[in-house]
Amino acid sequence: MTDRYAVIGNPISHSKSPLIHALFAKQTGQDISYEAIEAPLDGFAATIERLRSESYKGCNVTVPFKFEAYKCASDISERAKAAQAVNTLCFSETGIEGDNTDGAGLVRDIEQNIGTSLAGKNVLLMGAGGASYGVVLPLLNAGASLTIANRTASKAVELAAPFSGVTGGSYENLTELQFDVVVNATSAGLTDSAVPLPEGIFAPGALAYDMMYGRETPFMTFAREQGAQVADGLGMLIEQAAEAFFIWRGVRPDTRPVIAALRG
Ligand code: ATR
Repeated sequence: MTDRYAVIGNPISHSKSPLIHALFAKQTGQDISYEAIEAPLDGFAATIERLRSESYKGCNVTVPFKFEAYKCASDISERAKAAQAVNTLCFSETGIEGDNTDGAGLVRDIEQNIGTSLAGKNVLLMGAGGASYGVVLPLLNAGASLTIANRTASKAVELAAPFSGVTGGSYENLTELQFDVVVNATSAGLTDSAVPLPEGIFAPGALAYDMMYGRETPFMTFAREQGAQVADGLGMLIEQAAEAFFIWRGVRPDTRPVIAALRG
């Protein structure tokens, strides 16, 4: 019998997750279906109840429901607790397990696909919203030395506070510092706005990683001008999906052909 999965969001029509999971299923021979479901803004919990009553095995959760998913899970992973958000749910007889695969997706894309090891590297994380919360613990677990900068400095301080050795503050604090990896987790690119980074922020051979994909952001252009290697977030999207697929199916798909297919 085909096991059913879905991604829930609002809006959801743009989601690439059904295509990605269909490619994973074909590649690994797993008999699953995966659809996109748009839940009403006030109807997330009811949608989860419906999926459980219809014997779905699990779902992914995207904007704006990741925090609600966190609240509805009966069992939450360490990395989801650190993120204070859930993007992957597993349904069982006894309850709902919540996990967050976003940070693992970022780390895997940087280390496996791009080939940059994070151990011992100076990493700057820009932004202190939901996207940043999702990746702090996995970056630290990969051995990165982390600094967080945000337009509203107090939010970066708050995000950094639970983690020893992590500093949070404003962009002004970055003058004269250099980083091996700079991750843009702000939404500035959506409005074609630049993030106020000082010149010389990139160490020689640095990687500039924008979690956004499908557009050249001002951050990417700036990083290129400064001589950094530049990557967008498509690999992260596919790697976080692969991690969810692994949680559900116990099989890790080969992401390289899927990344190539989506870039094509
Ligand atoms: P998400 O869930 O995508 O992280 P969010 O919670 O709204 O979205 O957070 C957006 C992040 O992008 C915030 O860190 C925001 O900075 P503020 O906390 O100061 O608002 C950051 N951001 C958005 N536009 C920006 C801009 N033009 N320059 C710098 N940072 C920006």
